[in-house]
Amino acid sequence: MKAKVHELLNQQINKEFYSAYLYLDFSNYFEDAGLDGFANWYKIQAQEERDHAMLFYQYLQNENQKVTLEAIPKPDKVFTCHLDVLKAGLEHEEYVTSLINEIYAAAYEVKDFRTMQFLDWFVKEQGEEETNANNLITKMELFGSDPNRLYMLNQELAARVYTAPSLVL
Ligand code: FEO
Repeated sequence: MKAKVHELLNQQINKEFYSAYLYLDFSNYFEDAGLDGFANWYKIQAQEERDHAMLFYQYLQNENQKVTLEAIPKPDKVFTCHLDVLKAGLEHEEYVTSLINEIYAAAYEVKDFRTMQFLDWFVKEQGEEETNANNLITKMELFGSDPNRLYMLNQELAARVYTAPSLVL
């Protein structure tokens, strides 16, 4: 594996663990706000991010590449309303998409087809993540100011259950 691709893949382990940490913080925000369904939704989101981190970790190990674990930054966003949290989620996913694209471009440049194939799953996953984040914002904008509807939205998000990633390495 070429050094640049290796470096970016290794960095992505950290970025995905940070995503998990960030979403756990979002979950914590909603727990404090009394919206346990939103808290559940982000707790499961955090679990998915840990899965993503482990996929990068496992891929490097499978390729006999060294894994170096770095410190995970503190999630330090301060929110003034529920919608801000959801918007920060979308912004973060767009950032993660840009990171995946950057790794893909680096792999493409050196004809690292195996890494490109590995990343294909993440390219699709990022599309889904952005759609989910967008949908949450739309629903909150439509229903968030009505307590009855917010209650129902909270119930809807409480029903989310964790499923393991479809990618197995
Ligand atoms: Fe690991 Fe939310 O992308």
